[in-house]
Amino acid sequence: MLAYTYIEHEKFELIEKPKPVISDERDAIVKVTLASICSSDLHIKHGSVPRAVPGITVGHEMVGIVEQVGSAVNTVKPGDRVTVNVETFCGDCFFCKNGWVNNCIDQNGGWALGCRIDGGQAEYVRVPYADQGLDKIPDSVTDLQALLVGDVLATGYWAANISEIKREDTVLIIGAGPTGLCTLQCVGLHQPKRIIICDVDESRLAFVRECYPDVLTVTPDNVRECVLSHSDHGGADVVLEVAGSNDTFRMAWECARPNAIVTVVALYDSPQILPLPEMYGKNLTFKTGGVDGCNCKETLDLIAEGKIDTVPLITHTVPLKDIAKGYELFESKRDGVIKVAVTMD
Ligand SMILES: NC(=O)c1ccc[n+]([C@@H]2O[C@H](COP(=O)([O-])OP(=O)(O)OC[C@H]3O[C@@H](n4cnc5c(N)ncnc54)[C@H](O)[C@@H]3O)[C@@H](O)[C@H]2O)c1
Ligand SMILES: [Zn+2]
Ligand SMILES: [Zn+2]
Repeated sequence: MLAYTYIEHEKFELIEKPKPVISDERDAIVKVTLASICSSDLHIKHGSVPRAVPGITVGHEMVGIVEQVGSAVNTVKPGDRVTVNVETFCGDCFFCKNGWVNNCIDQNGGWALGCRIDGGQAEYVRVPYADQGLDKIPDSVTDLQALLVGDVLATGYWAANISEIKREDTVLIIGAGPTGLCTLQCVGLHQPKRIIICDVDESRLAFVRECYPDVLTVTPDNVRECVLSHSDHGGADVVLEVAGSNDTFRMAWECARPNAIVTVVALYDSPQILPLPEMYGKNLTFKTGGVDGCNCKETLDLIAEGKIDTVPLITHTVPLKDIAKGYELFESKRDGVIKVAVTMD
């Protein structure tokens, strides 16, 4: 089969590999029908994910059809249409039982697919702990509608859920990339009074104005004034930092009102400074971390009910044979690209 593979620093290549086989009774083999490209794939390519293993097939956001299951798999069977979870988790350890699946103690726990074990920018993928890692897609939901469920939508859903959003709140989201836009939709489920989204990229803000006309858009130079004039207590009640630039961590806590929640979804290339003397008396609560991606069933149901729709985010599609062009487009942010889907035909 064809598999897009991390060869070495700065080099991914589409190569022929053997089809994966069941190697544990809790595995499933999934025939991938649609995959997508994520900013974390670019981080592997550019060497900022040291635990990524050269030779692995990349890709950790995909949907497909179950082809084969191990003898201990109970929740899915061959022929089922499924989403694949970005995280591998056993479901049995202390952390899994508390819903902190990002910290599963299994040797492959956390983000392993497309990083430490073969992922899904390929015709087939082996999914460990298939009862945890796969969710059946409802009949009324298409593969395209379900494509982002396992990774960026899981992240947005998790981030909105941990942010303690209330109806009277002004919520500021920094970053309108794929993850920020998924976060925006999930924040909307909590029905805060106002949502403001900040990005440097005017085309992304234009996309927000077109798709979510109730959301206020702002660029970084005006963000403080905008938040002040659209909040009731001198700053945002909740801030979600989903950009990960040099200055966005500072922007996040500076735009927050005293006693606000600041949720840091972004991953940074360099350490960030927590200037406690400057913050003293602001009494902020920070929440950070890797997504606990165990809510895919709920998000699939919300998609089926029409309450979440990530299809507009998938702006481009390429066949697997042209995946390198898809990467080039995604990385260049040309042509209004937000997400690129990869088909297997
Ligand atoms: N915590 C997790 O588990 C998790 C999961 C997925 C993604 N992430 C992280 O979330 C972040 C966003 O991911 P993405 O895929 O949407 O990436 P992305 O790079 O496509 O999006 C970032 C957005 O932030 C904007 N931006 C850049 N500088 C800015 C600034 N100074 N002010 C305002 N906006 C600015 C960019 O224009 C872009 O639209 C990344 O840091 C990613 O690593 C974390
Ligand atoms: Zn990802
Ligand atoms: Zn576990």
